[in-house]
Amino acid sequence: MQSISFSENLINKAYADTCQSLSRIKSKAKNCKECNLCETALQTVNSVHRGDITKIDYFLLGEAPGKTEDTIGKPFVGKAGVLLQGLLQELEMTDNLYVTNVVKHRPPHNRKPTAEEMSICGDLFLKNEINVIKPKTIICLGRTAAEYLITASLKSNDIPEEPYLKRSLRGRSFTFNHIPVLCTWHPAYILRNPEKLEELKGDLNSAKEFIKK
Ligand code: URA
Repeated sequence: MQSISFSENLINKAYADTCQSLSRIKSKAKNCKECNLCETALQTVNSVHRGDITKIDYFLLGEAPGKTEDTIGKPFVGKAGVLLQGLLQELEMTDNLYVTNVVKHRPPHNRKPTAEEMSICGDLFLKNEINVIKPKTIICLGRTAAEYLITASLKSNDIPEEPYLKRSLRGRSFTFNHIPVLCTWHPAYILRNPEKLEELKGDLNSAKEFIKK
C-alpha cells in the first residue's frame, strides 16, 4: 500500500476543508430568503471557479447577476461576461480564478442593489467566501463592488468613509482583511464606453504582474 506523507495529508486536509466550507456557504445562499431579492429572482447565482480553490490568484467581484446570469445560474455569462472572459484569456489569467458578485440574486430590472441588500448578502456570504478562500488578490469590477468592500474595510477599521468614496475609485488599491484589492471598470461599462477597454486591460494586467512577483 502506498503511504501518504505527513505534509501531503495536511495539504489534502486544507483542500477538503476549503471545499466543505465553500459548499456550506453556497447551499446557504441557495436557500437564502433574508431580503426581498429572492422573491423576484429566478434563482441564486453562486460563484464559479477554475483551478485549485486553495490557490486562487484572482477573486473577481461584480455587483449582481443580470438577466442572463439569472436564467443560467452562473455569474458573468451575459454580454459583459463574454467581454471579461475574452480579456482574461488574452491576458492568460484563466487559471486559479474565482468569480462572484456582492449579491447573489438579480435585483428587479437590473437596478443597483441597495446598501441593505449588499450588507445582508455580503455579511452572510461574500465576506465568508473571502475568508475561506483567502485569494491572493481581489479585483472589484465597477464602483458598486469597490464601494461595498471599501466601506466594509473602513468600517472594520473605524475609519470614516466619506473622503474615500468621493474620489474616483478606478485604479485605486487598498486591502481587505490584508488581501490586496484593485478597483477597475465594470465590463458592462466598457460595452458602453469601448474607449476605456485599454484601461480595463491595463488594470487586469497589473494584477497579473502583482501575482508574478
Ligand atoms: N454584472 C455583474 O455585476 N455581475 C454579473 O454576474 C453579470 C453582470
